[in-house]
Amino acid sequence: MLVNTKKMLLKAQEEGYAVGHFNSSNLETTKAIIEAAVELNSPVIVATSKSAIEYYGLKEIYTTTRELVGKLSIPVALHLDHGPDYNLAKKCLNIGYTSVMIDTSKETFKKNVQITKKVVKYARELNASVEAEIGRLKGIEDQISSKEHVLTQPNEALEFVKATDCDSLAIAIGTSHGAYKFKGKTKLDFERLKNIRELVKIPLVLHGASSVYQEEVKKLTKYGGSLKNAHGVSDYELKRAIGYGICKINTDTDLRIAFDMELRKFLKENKSEIDVRKILGNAYGHVKEIVEKKIKIFGSEGKAY
Ligand code: G3H
Ligand code: 13P
Ligand code: ZN
Repeated sequence: MLVNTKKMLLKAQEEGYAVGHFNSSNLETTKAIIEAAVELNSPVIVATSKSAIEYYGLKEIYTTTRELVGKLSIPVALHLDHGPDYNLAKKCLNIGYTSVMIDTSKETFKKNVQITKKVVKYARELNASVEAEIGRLKGIEDQISSKEHVLTQPNEALEFVKATDCDSLAIAIGTSHGAYKFKGKTKLDFERLKNIRELVKIPLVLHGASSVYQEEVKKLTKYGGSLKNAHGVSDYELKRAIGYGICKINTDTDLRIAFDMELRKFLKENKSEIDVRKILGNAYGHVKEIVEKKIKIFGSEGKAY
């Protein structure tokens, strides 16, 4: 059964670990995420963005995820990632998503509050929860303008949460989406995170948290891919962020690298293989390994309830 995301995150917050939010755009990735969580007896969040929904189909995502989850004994949540507007959030909630992110962080504070409040009101009626964002990460949110990060201001975060009554809050502390997160050394503002945590009592979410593992990038390059000078957030930094109060960690890029690398490897080594089940089936296995690795780092192994 799909479960209430809020409850899942409150438990993580109380016990000091993070639940993995993993983005999926296809059946193979969704299966890999759920199976990894089952193997490690961990709660997990399957997340789909607007573009994933456009690609995979809302009804298809909901029904396949619900069927895969079936009667499993681990808690699985289905979440809309970076919902750009009220309408998509509403559609996802209506079909049965257990939470939505409304990401109007590019708007003025006032408008961000206004739209978030409206989504919260609707979600409450369906016993679902809402993640919102204050501050801006480079990547998704700057597709409209090319502004740099706008790091979250602790006081503004507090004011936003009070005004919207959202259930969890995505904050900007220096990460960004995609494979290119840092020009030089990784720089996360842990002091800022600490200050936000002191003021804001609801679960805090770290977006743009992929590690861009260098061994994976090397393999990708070996098999014909190219991600020059790509860098992510190290496992050590993720653990520090959890220590300072992050209890939901969003990962997409690391799964994309894993999938893509395995596809390239398999196709290079099996030039006459045309069975798409074998090709995709192989890539799915590696995505599952990465999800398992993440679950262990996030500390949610054995935390199913
Ligand atoms: O943070 C967002 C995810 O990486 C989703 O990206 O819009 O390409 O699906 P996408
Ligand atoms: P990455 O691009 O670092 O995987 O971030 C994903 C994310 O934040 C999804 O919301
Ligand atoms: Zn994100």
